[in-house]
Amino acid sequence: MSCAQFRQGRPTDTLVASLHFLEMASPDPRGLACFYERAMGYDVRVDDDAIVASGPDRNLIFRLGAPKTLLRAGFALPDQDELERLADRIVQAGYSFRRSNAHLLGDAIETSDPDGNRFVFGLPRDPQPSAEKVRKLPARLQHVVVASRTPADVVSFFTEGLGFTLSDDVLDAEGCVRTSFLRCSREHHSFAVFKAAEDRLDHHCYETSDWNMIRDWADHMASEHIPIQWGPGRHGPGNNLFLFVHDPDGNWVEISAELELVDHGRPVGQWPHEQRTLNSWGQGLLRS
Ligand SMILES: [Fe+2]
Repeated sequence: MSCAQFRQGRPTDTLVASLHFLEMASPDPRGLACFYERAMGYDVRVDDDAIVASGPDRNLIFRLGAPKTLLRAGFALPDQDELERLADRIVQAGYSFRRSNAHLLGDAIETSDPDGNRFVFGLPRDPQPSAEKVRKLPARLQHVVVASRTPADVVSFFTEGLGFTLSDDVLDAEGCVRTSFLRCSREHHSFAVFKAAEDRLDHHCYETSDWNMIRDWADHMASEHIPIQWGPGRHGPGNNLFLFVHDPDGNWVEISAELELVDHGRPVGQWPHEQRTLNSWGQGLLRS
């Protein structure tokens, strides 16, 4: 379903968007780009002071810097009206933005969450993928997850400032929120944040077409001698099938399938903070 189709019947106080690119820092951006070329089928090129990796439905930008650092996350909007609604919403909620013209998003606005993570929202200017690219294994860039010392502030920014909708919370035994999953389409989450001792990037995820593709991606990783670090398994929140690998900087990279689609108005779900919530099939890696 396209963003424009999704907008039909939706209240205008909610955002309609999809994750379009991530910009990450690394002490070795060229080496990191080579990993993603090998692991995820990206085409890599040097563009001014950045390394740009592109593939069908996925884009990454690498720059020199500290590892495990999210420099920017870019979200595609369906049209100019959505962009202007977002700009109004940010200001009315007491946050700020600036107009930008990002590499992969033309007319765009850029804002920062309370942790300083930068987010760009704009109109994509994608070239049509070549026939050669289309033959690659499907993996649409779908969500990004950060760790935060103050996740409640981040959630307030995303819901009140940006118009994301809260899908599910994970609560500890004292009733405190440990993880929040937020959506900007029918897909269960396009962003999540969990409580941790530091603010940092945790992982990003690619949604593939079905369970059989999880198998094919696992076989692909095996052929590249990239070990699977976690999974295959099934998450509780989102109900998606998953596997994880590590990139050379230690960032988690997730491949997912069959992520839950959520109807508007569905009550916020609550999950206990336990291994079974992270992986109903087996071991959960509690990072919060
Ligand atoms: Fe994930």
